[in-house]
Amino acid sequence: MTAILSMEGVRLSFARGRGARKQVLDNLTFAVERGETFGFLGPSGAGKTTTIKLLTRQLAKDAGRIRLFGRPLENAGDADYDRIGILSDTSALYERLSIEDNLVLYARLRGVSQAGIPGLLERVGLLSDRKVLVKNCSKGMRQRAALLAALIHSPELLFLDEPTSGLDPAARVEVHRMLAELKEAGTTVFLTTHDMAEAEEVCDRVGILNEGRLVACGAPLELRLEHARNRLTVVTRTRGTIVTTKDAAAAPLLAELLAAGECLSVHSDEPNLEEIFLELTGREF
Ligand SMILES: Nc1ncnc2c1ncn2[C@@H]1O[C@H](COP(=O)(O)OP(=O)(O)OP(=O)(O)O)[C@@H](O)[C@H]1O
Ligand SMILES: [Mg+2]
Repeated sequence: MTAILSMEGVRLSFARGRGARKQVLDNLTFAVERGETFGFLGPSGAGKTTTIKLLTRQLAKDAGRIRLFGRPLENAGDADYDRIGILSDTSALYERLSIEDNLVLYARLRGVSQAGIPGLLERVGLLSDRKVLVKNCSKGMRQRAALLAALIHSPELLFLDEPTSGLDPAARVEVHRMLAELKEAGTTVFLTTHDMAEAEEVCDRVGILNEGRLVACGAPLELRLEHARNRLTVVTRTRGTIVTTKDAAAAPLLAELLAAGECLSVHSDEPNLEEIFLELTGREF
């Protein structure tokens, strides 16, 4: 596997007045493989948007190495810009234009055909609202329109900063479906979200950022197993609920229960991503 982007020992601080500086990213190291959907998670203020800004050259690092498409980011040019799409955390849409006119504008800016626009609008349920001015759109409509603007040129690599924030459940499902289609087409997606269930559902791997440091990185299931408690809960036919361990020490008891036909259910309790997140960050999100 080849990394489509990577960071190694990246540091970034912001001036905080009176000569003081706030360390926002501290020794950040991770890589995203081509074709994967990578979720960047972390509490508010952890540095997720800042990381996207570094990767898209809207900010410059203090130290470390960043590579994009196999080359140092410093060497990236206009051609590389055409290969990426960005949905930022602030709206990139023109308020006085309709949804459709915004997309026409983005298609022109990106130098691609406008022919695909109706199909894209249809996919996120915006076709009948295409003439609505962005200033009159709901948050969910804006978010979906901005997502289409980000992917209008079929980029290889998409940065999506909270793509489902403000969406109702139906629109959220629509975006998840779109993410699945993008993955199918081989697009690499780097996304941030505060929704752990979403991350677990759509991401191949996630990184959990806390106060500028990566505190976990891996496939959701891998992280769940890594953080699993050594506990097994057995509901028995006549002996109630028995809590035991998952290791060899429990083998005689389990063998006996199984032989006696006592086991109604056996559960190991891996924490979900949300519990892991709370454990690692000690915070709500
Ligand atoms: N231009 C800037 N100047 C000074 N400080 C900044 C700047 N941009 C971000 N910060 C600070 O950097 C930290 C990380 O911000 P960032 O926007 O990356 O967080 P985030 O993880 O995206 O949070 P959220 O989940 O709320 O979007 C915050 O403490 C923020 O105040
Ligand atoms: Mg952010």
